[in-house]
Amino acid sequence: MMTDDMLRAQLPHTLEKIDLQGVGDLYRGKVRDNYSRGDRIVMITTDRISAFDHVLGTIPFKGEVLSRLTAFWFEKVKDLAPTHVLDLPDPSVMVVKRAKALPIEIVIRGYVTGSLWRDYQAGKAGAYGIQWPVGLRKDQKFDRPIITPSTKAEYGKHDEPISEAEILKQGLVSPELWKEATTVAHRLFQRGQEWALSRGLILVDTKYEMGVAEGKLVVIDEIHTPDSSRYWIADGYEERFAKGAEQEMLDKENIRQWLIKEHGFSGHGKPPPLTDDVRVMLARKYIEVFERLTGERFVSAVGSVEERIKRNLAAKGYLARG
Ligand SMILES: Nc1ncnc2c1ncn2[C@@H]1O[C@H](COP(=O)(O)OP(=O)(O)OP(=O)(O)O)[C@@H](O)[C@H]1O
Ligand SMILES: [Mg+2]
Repeated sequence: MMTDDMLRAQLPHTLEKIDLQGVGDLYRGKVRDNYSRGDRIVMITTDRISAFDHVLGTIPFKGEVLSRLTAFWFEKVKDLAPTHVLDLPDPSVMVVKRAKALPIEIVIRGYVTGSLWRDYQAGKAGAYGIQWPVGLRKDQKFDRPIITPSTKAEYGKHDEPISEAEILKQGLVSPELWKEATTVAHRLFQRGQEWALSRGLILVDTKYEMGVAEGKLVVIDEIHTPDSSRYWIADGYEERFAKGAEQEMLDKENIRQWLIKEHGFSGHGKPPPLTDDVRVMLARKYIEVFERLTGERFVSAVGSVEERIKRNLAAKGYLARG
């Protein structure tokens, strides 16, 4: 079991970034350091945390939790769609098949909450081209999950809502591919919700990235992680909803709330530094989601993530010698 003392002891050893030689060209996203060469990418999930499109700092064991959770989920859904996973040389590293990514993020939602709720309430949820039911209440469940696509912005820019009609009109994705991608998204989401519920959680909404490799649609990036998804505790959802109380969340909303409530930060200007207490609190939350979803205890060793990754990559022949 990972005690708070262990999480605290890991603070100076977190992985902020990793510089590797001979693995390929580096693309540093907000969370992942991606080294690509030819048709494969060595994707390292660092311990960086981002919110409102800003990188805020690092969280102990976050990269490992996310990478292992993604591997867990890909295994659970492998009958529904091909995924990009080729190899798992280290708990924070996934070697993947490089795909041509669709320029759209497929966001699918089971409930009206978060940014959609804010837009709906302000009468600004029109960009998705969806006829929203009238009189929805915050955190209400939809009759069936709804896809609210967004454009995949370049680094440093914000993703923007877009409608299906606009995606097709602009030719961002062909009609056939869009049909397939959304069908797959609905199936993945249903599987995800069923599994989460069997583990006492509600998978509220999530974001999929998909691409095409060797002529086939593949699910890429991460899947059903607390970075790409919202999770609520299932127990007591109805009572909280009836009372209009906040849901118990186990996802990135925790950091957003801390930024807004404690620092009035919602994406403009310079984000406040994360205190060590908040970093440990967030590590707890990430580990809690991992343990609930997998039913396993999360166990890892305190120490340099960078050295461990380099050792594992070298042992498995991913680093150029010399
Ligand atoms: N199999 C794949 N083939 C090609 N690109 C992929 C694949 N899997 C993931 N990616 C891309 O690799 C990057 C992963 O890095 P990360 O998740 O940190 O990025 P991000 O901050 O979410 O997005 P951004 O690219 O806007 O920085 C993303 O741009 C993602 O779209
Ligand atoms: Mg990403």
